[in-house]
Amino acid sequence: MSGSDELAPVLTIDGPSGSGKGSISKRISEKLGWHYLDSGAIYRALGVAAIKNDIDISNEFEIAALIRRIDIEFKQSASGAWAAYLDGEQVQKKLQTEEVGNTASKIAIFPMVRRGLLAKQQGFQKAPGLVADGRDMGSVVFFNARHKVYLTASAEERGKRRYKQLIEKGISANLHNVIEDIEQRDERDKNRSASPLTVPDGAIYIDSSSSTIDEVVQQVLDSLDNK
Ligand code: DC
Repeated sequence: MSGSDELAPVLTIDGPSGSGKGSISKRISEKLGWHYLDSGAIYRALGVAAIKNDIDISNEFEIAALIRRIDIEFKQSASGAWAAYLDGEQVQKKLQTEEVGNTASKIAIFPMVRRGLLAKQQGFQKAPGLVADGRDMGSVVFFNARHKVYLTASAEERGKRRYKQLIEKGISANLHNVIEDIEQRDERDKNRSASPLTVPDGAIYIDSSSSTIDEVVQQVLDSLDNK
């Protein structure tokens, strides 16, 4: 399958860490009644598996082989919240840590890893539609998607948002380090040779630095109506 849009319409939302695409994509999928793919969670779950199995994360072959041995699933609880499961174990909380985010970003540079996760991501395309959030949703995984958005914000603004989230969760953090970390992750995500973070052809470009989540959600929904 090649990311064709015939199966069900797809809205791709790509952008760097902290651009707000997670909250915005989720909100839009709820409003449209469409499925939601958090592709970063799949890379993060693989990161959790690599750490757990003590895999050398610079070894592309080992990480690719790991994909074939593990089972990553997303299940909805009675309250409606979705959680990631790795080999049957709930790992949703682990996905949020900085260590796992950085590991995900490092293993995501490998072409064999990206190929190994492709079918899993494309399997989320089901009627009545899909909102897919990631780095290469509109450029690779669903390149035929009907609707594409590239969402960004300045590194400073994204760092401030991330810092606020960490403090709210009771995790101690240093703003300067958080911004530096975001810049390093951007650098890796944009400059890798395999499926780098890029503005997909035909995507609408939204800078959310000075917008609220609600404003961006509305802007994206308006753009769907106009197509
Ligand atoms: O969106 P996120 O922060 O949860 O993603 C974690 C890492 O996974 C990110 O730094 C890069 C990688 N990733 C990717 O390469 N391609 C995607 N479609 C989604 C995430």
